[in-house]
Amino acid sequence: MHAQLIRASRFGEPKEAFLDESVAVPEVGPRDVLVYVMAAGVNYNNVWAAMGIPVDVIKARQKKGEPYDFHIGGSDASGVVWKVGSDVQNVKVGDDVVVHCGQWDADDPHVLAGKDPMLAPSQRIWGYESNWGSFAQYALVQDHQCLPKPPHLTWEEAAAYMLVAATAYRMLHGWAPNVVGAGDPVLVWGGAGGLGSMAIQIVKAAGGRAVAVVSGDDKVEFCKRLGAVGVIDRRKFSHWGKLPRWSDEIEYAQWLKGARAFGQAFWEALGERRSPTIVFEHPGESTLPTSSFVCDTGGMVVICAGTTGFNATLDLRYHWMRQKRFQGSHFANDEQAAGVNRLVMEGKVDPCLSRTFSFAETGECHQLMRDNQHPSGNMAILVNAPRPGLRTLDEVRTAR
Ligand SMILES: NC(=O)c1ccc[n+]([C@@H]2O[C@H](COP(=O)([O-])OP(=O)(O)OC[C@H]3O[C@@H](n4cnc5c(N)ncnc54)[C@H](OP(=O)(O)O)[C@@H]3O)[C@@H](O)[C@H]2O)c1
Repeated sequence: MHAQLIRASRFGEPKEAFLDESVAVPEVGPRDVLVYVMAAGVNYNNVWAAMGIPVDVIKARQKKGEPYDFHIGGSDASGVVWKVGSDVQNVKVGDDVVVHCGQWDADDPHVLAGKDPMLAPSQRIWGYESNWGSFAQYALVQDHQCLPKPPHLTWEEAAAYMLVAATAYRMLHGWAPNVVGAGDPVLVWGGAGGLGSMAIQIVKAAGGRAVAVVSGDDKVEFCKRLGAVGVIDRRKFSHWGKLPRWSDEIEYAQWLKGARAFGQAFWEALGERRSPTIVFEHPGESTLPTSSFVCDTGGMVVICAGTTGFNATLDLRYHWMRQKRFQGSHFANDEQAAGVNRLVMEGKVDPCLSRTFSFAETGECHQLMRDNQHPSGNMAILVNAPRPGLRTLDEVRTAR
C-alpha cells in the first residue's frame, strides 16, 4: 500500500519529513479492523511526530519491541471496513465508518475492571503513539475505535472532526460536577481553531453560552456563526506569559490590571457580569494565569495541551479561596467519542472542514499547521477518495 511515511532520517520540517513510500499492508489480529481509508484528518500531533520532538515516536515504539523503523501517522479517518479479525462483532466488511484515536489493550487489568480506559496504563493515541494511522491506503485499528459515519457528510468532512471533537466533548462533559449545562458561561481559547470550533458548538448544544478568544478580525464572524455569544480579540491585551512573582509589586500590579481588563471583556462579550464556570484551555503557559484568575468560584479550568509552553503558573490565593479546579484532560473514551458523533449525526456539530488536500500534500498541510498559517477549523487529506464531495463507496466507484 502507499503510505506517507515518516522516518528518523527525515525528522524536521513537516514538508520534508513525510514521503510517499510503499509498505506491506499490516496483518489483522482477532480484535482488529482494517479500514480502506477514504480521507484522513490533520492534527497537531503529527507535526510533532514529523519533527521528532518532544518524543521520537519510532524509537519509543522500538523500545517496547515493535520492529518497524517508520511511522505512519494520521489519527482521524473516514473509510470502509475492509477486513475484520475473528472476534470483531461491532462492525462488518463494507460498513462506512469514522475512526476515533483512543487505543488500549483489551486485557489491561484497568480496562477489564471497567474503569475509564483513557486512564489505563496501556492507553495510547492511534496514528501517533501507535503505527498504521490514516495517512495510508489501509489503516489498522481496534474494533471499538470504529463508529458509524454520519451519512450526510462527505468522506473528507467525516475525516476532519473526531479527534478534536471528542477531546472537546470530554473536556466539557467528562469532569462532573463541572460539566456544561443550560445557561453556563464558558470561555473558549482559540475559538476558530480545531478544538475551539468544536467546543463552541458542543457548549451551544448543551444550552451553554460560549465566549471565544481569537486573534484576527476574520475569525470573529466564524466563531459567531458557530454559536459563540461573544468574541474577545486577544491582541488587545499584553499581559500574557507566566505570572510575575506575587512579591514583585509593580510587575504583579501590571499583570493584575491586564487580567482584570480581560475579565471585564469577558463580561462585556457575554452581556452579563458572570464569570466562566468552565475555561476551555489549550494554549497553556501564556494564558493559564488569566484563565485561572477569571474562572468562576467553584469553576474549572480544563486543559488538554500547552501549545505556547508547558510551565503552568497561577495565583494560588484565588485558586484555593475561590475553590477552583484545574483539570487535565486527554482525548476521550468510547462513550464520549460516540456522544460527540451523535451530535454530528444530529447536525448539532459541524466538522468545520476548511480545506481539503491531496495525498501528495500531506507534508504541506502539516507545515501550514506548524507555521500557524492554516485556515480556521479543520483540514483533511483525500487518500483513496478520488475527489472531494463523495459520500459513499458507490460514489467513489462511479467517480473512478
Ligand atoms: N490532549 C489531547 O487530546 C489533544 C487533542 C487535540 C488537540 N490537542 C492539542 O491542542 C492544541 C490545539 O489544537 P488545535 O487542533 O485546536 O490547533 P489549532 O487549530 O492550531 O488551534 C489552536 C488555536 O490556538 C490559538 N493560539 C495560538 N497561539 C495562542 C496564544 N499565544 N494564546 C492564545 N491562543 C493562541 C490560535 O487562535 P488565535 O490565534 O485565533 O487566538 C489557534 O486557532 C495543540 O497543541 C494540539 O496538539 C490536544
